[in-house]
Amino acid sequence: MSNSANGLSNSLNQRPRRLRANAAIRNLVSETQVRPEQLILPLFVREGLNEPKPIKGLPGVVQHTETSLRVEIDRALEAGIGGVMVFGIPNHRDPLGSEALNPNGVLSNAIRDIRAQVGDRLVVIADLCLDEFTSHGHCGVLGKPDAHGNSAVDNDATLEIYGRMAAVLAEAGAHMLGASGMMDGQVAATRRALDAAGHQDVSILAYAAKYASAFYGPFRDAVESQLEGDRKTYQQDPRNARESIREIKLDAAEGADIIMVKPALAYLDIISEARRSVDLPIASYVVSGEMAMIEAAAAQGLINREPAILEALASVYRAGANIICTYWAIEVAGWLNRR
Ligand code: PBG
Repeated sequence: MSNSANGLSNSLNQRPRRLRANAAIRNLVSETQVRPEQLILPLFVREGLNEPKPIKGLPGVVQHTETSLRVEIDRALEAGIGGVMVFGIPNHRDPLGSEALNPNGVLSNAIRDIRAQVGDRLVVIADLCLDEFTSHGHCGVLGKPDAHGNSAVDNDATLEIYGRMAAVLAEAGAHMLGASGMMDGQVAATRRALDAAGHQDVSILAYAAKYASAFYGPFRDAVESQLEGDRKTYQQDPRNARESIREIKLDAAEGADIIMVKPALAYLDIISEARRSVDLPIASYVVSGEMAMIEAAAAQGLINREPAILEALASVYRAGANIICTYWAIEVAGWLNRR
């Protein structure tokens, strides 16, 4: 019998607070769990660098030298994260992004070194895109200029180059390629090129739903992007959701192994839709600007950094992505391992 004074408690047969009474019971009923082995760490490798170079707005994130990359990979192994996603920044850029096809270029060399270091202990993913390699900074090559002298990115000419780049990166030892350029047919073209080169077992992480986002700001600095203008003719319009489902289904049909939604925090609805639309694993990328917002607010003492980061990552899991790309991967794995 309750001794409640107002008698109200007698009528409450549903008390959700019972399951929140202490940490043990909260853990017992927790619905999702961020796990170190499902975190992917993006890494930047800069050709010709002597010292690691910090990136504005992203504390702890640097452009790596060959040496600092080794150390970071050791930390990744130690932390038990799931994988690394490697971006290369070359010395030389040209309109066709030729360095992307150099088997001894910055990205291929980094992939080869990382594979030699890790074997199969973590998943080595190479970014498959031209934006770091082109002098104009677009994700593909440009077509003939129109009457006003403006050129659009030529989808099909770009696919041909992605195919060759895919074979080069697979040859260097990538387990997986991150098809991030938002060209139509890029997954099919990549699959075909990989298979033709005997790389049937190299998988494709398809950036199926990638938005033309303002939250990529610090990344452009990280890769010394030469882009003027924007990517709105190939990346998606942030106002659209149904369009993502179309993109995701196309990529699945073209042979994607994993579907990526990017950015993450501003696109949780898209992650949920993706989860419902296909039976493939869903990944999401907490991008540079999303990290920078949290870091900046925490640095000013406005929010508590560690719980804010864990809450942000939990939201991505809850929405339906079980794989998260985050610059915090190693640090967060450390927190999770310590529990
Ligand atoms: C382009 C690319 C972008 C990011 C990764 N690869 C963005 C863009 O410039 O379109 C963004 C990652 C981030 O902001 O953390 N291939």
